[in-house]
Amino acid sequence: MRIDIISVLPELLCSPFDHSIVKRARDKGLLEIYLHDLKDYGKGKHRQVDDYAYGGGAGMVLMVEPVFNCIKNLKSERDYDEVIFTAPDGQLLNQGLANELSLRKNIIILCGHYKGVDERVREHLITREISIGDYVLSGGELAAAVITDAIGRLLPGVLNDETSALTDSFQDDLIAPPVYTRPAEFNGWKVPDVLVSGHQKKIDEWRMAESEKRTAQRRPGLL
Ligand code: ADE
Repeated sequence: MRIDIISVLPELLCSPFDHSIVKRARDKGLLEIYLHDLKDYGKGKHRQVDDYAYGGGAGMVLMVEPVFNCIKNLKSERDYDEVIFTAPDGQLLNQGLANELSLRKNIIILCGHYKGVDERVREHLITREISIGDYVLSGGELAAAVITDAIGRLLPGVLNDETSALTDSFQDDLIAPPVYTRPAEFNGWKVPDVLVSGHQKKIDEWRMAESEKRTAQRRPGLL
């Protein structure tokens, strides 16, 4: 899978993809991530990509032309399944959407910007708008990193244990059960007996019951 991320601050996105599971996905050649500086498509000495809003009001708005040219340039090289825009008023990201996007081949993510982007970008160039939660970030870069991470870890072969993503929270609309590691007792706090019993069927039943209990307690809306 290939993800092209367009941003006015691509530097913000260097580190998140250089560690842990996303790095592993890239190292294995399962995920390619390319960062594009929108300013490379800006006009003039200052490589201008934003301007005042028509009608007045605070904040600068991303201009349609550099975004159009950047996306056009990418599309001249290959087809894209989605052109995503990160915005607080977009579709809320959840595990179902991450699963769906992980089946795509090529995706563009355009990172949103302070006061937004010229509406003509959203109308004509974007296929999907995604929010990572009901709060406002300073820009869409962190949202792009979250989306990329959520998708990347789902690609077949990325996680060592193939069942691992399948047992994630939300994957079957349940919160994952609690997990423990050694020691079996610390400070008088004990690991549940069933987990050290070696009885796999009982362990599986306990995990399922804990999952259901947690989901009912913490996220009843999922049930
Ligand atoms: N840009 C600003 N806030 C955002 C959010 N919550 N989700 C996605 N993009 C954003």
